[in-house]
Amino acid sequence: MRLFVTGGAGFIGSNFIRHMLAVYPGYEIVNFDKLTYAGNLDNLRDVERLAGYSFVRGDICDRRALDDALAGADAVINFAAESHVDRSIERASDFIETNVAGTQTLLDAARAAGVSRFVQISTDEVMGSCCDGEYFTEASPMRPNSPYAASKAAAEHLVRAAHITFGLDVVTTRASNNYGPYQFPEKLIPLMITNALEDKELPVYGDGLNVRDWLHVKDCCRAIDAVLHRGRSGEVYNIGSRAEKTNLEIVNTLLDLLGKPRSLIKFVTDRLGHDRRYATNPSRIENELDWRPEETFESGIEQTVRWYTGNSEWVARTRSGEYLQYYERMYGGR
Ligand code: NAD
Ligand code: TYD
Repeated sequence: MRLFVTGGAGFIGSNFIRHMLAVYPGYEIVNFDKLTYAGNLDNLRDVERLAGYSFVRGDICDRRALDDALAGADAVINFAAESHVDRSIERASDFIETNVAGTQTLLDAARAAGVSRFVQISTDEVMGSCCDGEYFTEASPMRPNSPYAASKAAAEHLVRAAHITFGLDVVTTRASNNYGPYQFPEKLIPLMITNALEDKELPVYGDGLNVRDWLHVKDCCRAIDAVLHRGRSGEVYNIGSRAEKTNLEIVNTLLDLLGKPRSLIKFVTDRLGHDRRYATNPSRIENELDWRPEETFESGIEQTVRWYTGNSEWVARTRSGEYLQYYERMYGGR
């Protein structure tokens, strides 16, 4: 099987490629990635020489590049996206270009190339904020609240339209917040670990009581693997681990694991339109595809802290350049 993975140099994409090469040594994987600030080939250094792996630098908005690289692909797994909510609030245009226009260009190219399956990697954020005691299912209405979430919701609609209109075989995943190795340190968990290691303040938005359902990236990759091979065409699958935590619980846990004082926490101005709670019901993937998370939050977060403390060179390289300017803009006057 030849898989065409877009955005494979990012956080979840690189973990997915590593997972697939380990589980299916006979598969060929083409990693098609634009290498934006979030794309990092360092993430794949340990697998880049494997016979089944190849890399093509390209943009999912570029139809000609897609046509060349897609030849012979059996399935597309579309991770490529602008993925950070705060950046989408600062400037939405890149999100519309890649997440919306890019997804349509990729769908057109996949259909022309005759691929057998298109997996769209979406997010639980398309459904917006969830009240206490409520759990979104795949049938819940989409009510995206950030430009990022709105762009991902738009992409889902385009994927569905390609299925209904042209009969393209599509499946969509909606995962909750992932954490684990190789996550760019602008997202909550790696940002807080790397700041704490440098005894820098930990910027907690608002009252710190927003809730997310934290999923280890390994479990997310196993779920995407199951959906790719066994998901029903045209369906959407929530992926979550029923591990709801407030941001403050996360930050306190990280400080305790690192042996750092809670005085490093700094409450800062809240994010605009900040969703209070994400919570999905993953029963469909549990029942239909027999998927369950293997990692508990406690073991997963400990391993993750160990990974970041043991990979200071990766952190330093990732945090140089564009990231430093972004950090100053985002947190400088907050
Ligand atoms: P990431 O930002 O770490 O990686 C995104 C990758 O896409 C990067 O390698 C980047 O270079 C590449 N890319 C961006 N624009 C591109 C373009 N136009 N053409 C080709 N490549 C391009 O993101 P991530 O956290 O790994 O998320 C991957 C996917 O999973 C995204 O679609 C995101 O919406 C979705 N998702 C993420 C989470 C999460 O918690 N991180 C949860 C649910 C869903
Ligand atoms: P994030 O990792 O950006 O993921 P998402 O917004 O997609 O859920 O943020 C997770 C939670 O952490 C979210 O409620 C916002 C909060 N947060 C902070 O409090 N401080 C920060 O510096 C960041 C980046 C996030």
